[in-house]
Amino acid sequence: MKAVVQRRYGSAVFGDLDVPVPGKGEVLLEVRAAGVDMGVWHILTGRPYLLRILGFGLRAPKSVVPGRDVAGVVREVGPGVTEYAVGDEVFGTCEGSFAEYAVAPAARLARKPHNLSFAEAAAVPISGGTALQGLREVKAGQRVLVLGAGGGVGSYGVQIAKAMGAHVTAVCSTRKVELARRLGADEVFDHTVADFTGTYDLILDCGGARPFGRLRKATNDRGRIVLVGAETGGKITGGFHKLMAAPLLNLFSSKKFVALMASESTDVFDELRVLVENGQVKPAVDEVFPLSEALNAVDHVYSRRSVGKTVVAI
Ligand SMILES: NC(=O)c1ccc[n+]([C@@H]2O[C@H](COP(=O)([O-])OP(=O)(O)OC[C@H]3O[C@@H](n4cnc5c(N)ncnc54)[C@H](OP(=O)(O)O)[C@@H]3O)[C@@H](O)[C@H]2O)c1
Repeated sequence: MKAVVQRRYGSAVFGDLDVPVPGKGEVLLEVRAAGVDMGVWHILTGRPYLLRILGFGLRAPKSVVPGRDVAGVVREVGPGVTEYAVGDEVFGTCEGSFAEYAVAPAARLARKPHNLSFAEAAAVPISGGTALQGLREVKAGQRVLVLGAGGGVGSYGVQIAKAMGAHVTAVCSTRKVELARRLGADEVFDHTVADFTGTYDLILDCGGARPFGRLRKATNDRGRIVLVGAETGGKITGGFHKLMAAPLLNLFSSKKFVALMASESTDVFDELRVLVENGQVKPAVDEVFPLSEALNAVDHVYSRRSVGKTVVAI
């Protein structure tokens, strides 16, 4: 099969590999599309180094094929899998979706929303799941601020917070303002012109550029600041240093910082499927790249040119 092959950190090529064989609890997918997010860039480069000791491979990436978000068709069912049969259309996450075939754990898949194309479905799992889990505590009528609203997680954050009945304020750069409005934000700040104002019950921080003091000041008493991620740190901990600081920041304040570690599971993806099929959430797919250009797709996201989600179609 054709695949992006990554045997070392920092070096990947488009080449050929054997089709993988599903093990216990796994299925073989004919990949139709793979979503791209910042996590793929981290695994391709091995940076920050912290992720190497978090299980992605100390000296070389554990998965020879990058790519995690996936949408495709079940072609083979491994031992112990009863939920899926050959021909089922699914979406979810796996290790190695930048390929014509990938093996995925059944526990990280759900049935593809019937109203989405494969490319749209592949844009949902990681970013949509992260936004959903970051917004769990939101109640109707609350004020939610989404920082990085025109990116992957943020574009779902705006829509899911609206679906929960919140008043949503979006913050993004100029090229993404129109998208944030289209996704339903009640108010949009272009941070290249002026930073946001106001106070909020929950801040979903997908950009990581604001100091903690600034976030705390913009939060109501007993409000929450959900730290999703940051690309502002160094080679060793990257944006993780911000998430690691959360417990200390909470010692003397009623305003709680939450370091989000989103999980990937059928339950989460089923919840997203319902939101999508109800018309409350629609993936904002920006550009679709062919598999042979998957590395350009990653660069497109890394360089912040992606407006919403970028996808690789096979
Ligand atoms: N905690 C978790 O479980 C989890 C799960 C998924 C992702 N993440 C992390 O969450 C973050 C957001 O993910 P994503 O997929 O939404 O990324 P994304 O698509 O790149 O969107 C992030 C947005 O934040 C802004 N941004 C990016 N880099 C920035 C920088 N250096 N300084 C200021 N603003 C910056 C950009 O908005 P503007 O260009 O409009 O300013 C961008 O649109 C990433 O760090 C990712 O690794 C964490």
